[in-house]
Amino acid sequence: MRKIFVIGIGVGDPDHMTMQAIRALNQVDVFFIPDKGSEKSALRDLRISICERFIENAGYRTVGIDVPQRNASGDYLAGVDDWHGRLAELYGDRFERELGDNEVGAVLVWGDPAIYDSTLRIIERLRANGLALEFEVIPGISSVQVLAAKHRIALNQIGEGVLLTTGRKLADGFPNEAGTVVVLLDGVQAFAGLADQDLDIFWGAYLGTEHEILRSGKLAEVKDEIVALRKAARERHGWIMDIYLLRRSDPRK
Ligand SMILES: C[S@@+](CC[C@H](N)C(=O)[O-])C[C@H]1O[C@@H](n2cnc3c(N)ncnc32)[C@H](O)[C@@H]1O
Repeated sequence: MRKIFVIGIGVGDPDHMTMQAIRALNQVDVFFIPDKGSEKSALRDLRISICERFIENAGYRTVGIDVPQRNASGDYLAGVDDWHGRLAELYGDRFERELGDNEVGAVLVWGDPAIYDSTLRIIERLRANGLALEFEVIPGISSVQVLAAKHRIALNQIGEGVLLTTGRKLADGFPNEAGTVVVLLDGVQAFAGLADQDLDIFWGAYLGTEHEILRSGKLAEVKDEIVALRKAARERHGWIMDIYLLRRSDPRK
């Protein structure tokens, strides 16, 4: 049966690759490399350089997949579902055409495949649609872990929870029940709307890459600097990936 490895590759530093990920890479016949356009071409290049650096036998093939844009208008969940459907068709077609019956394919996933990534949902969808496919997931170092490591902080406060969420959700307000909130996928800088609350922020962009930027402090004091840094960096590089952690300055309040 065809097999697919879904391999977490870390978030920008090739040294994030685990021994398990490198072992899996070396069993692969075909790499399926998603291309999300110029914004993410730097990420595609990292995937290719990881293959070149860690694979000992160069007999593998690579197949590009042009990822379609998600329709951002209308209902969010319906838009994501429709996008996953189109991605499943694309991936299913490539897996069937490019992977021999007993060959091994791989999708290299940014960070960890379990955190805000659609690959596992797409593969489950393909299997539900009847595609005979075995798959195995190799965990990777996520942007959440790298953010905490670079700021040299623990994610949780003592005895408190940690919520992973998106900028879209945070725009509704800081969730009161959460001790710490880690925010990914924030294109609207939702943190800027919370500056009247007594919060600390730990922010990082391009983590693990040569362009890495870190800032931290009281949200009200560093918010404008982060907004300006983010805008300038995005203009300079043509894309940005940033993540941040927010928590109450005084956890007893
Ligand atoms: C689609 S999610 C993928 C998350 C990924 N699976 C992980 O484990 O980190 C993309 C978001 O992850 C965060 N991210 C990923 N790589 C990053 C990096 N190198 N620096 C800062 N944030 C990053 C950003 O919030 C970005 O919007």
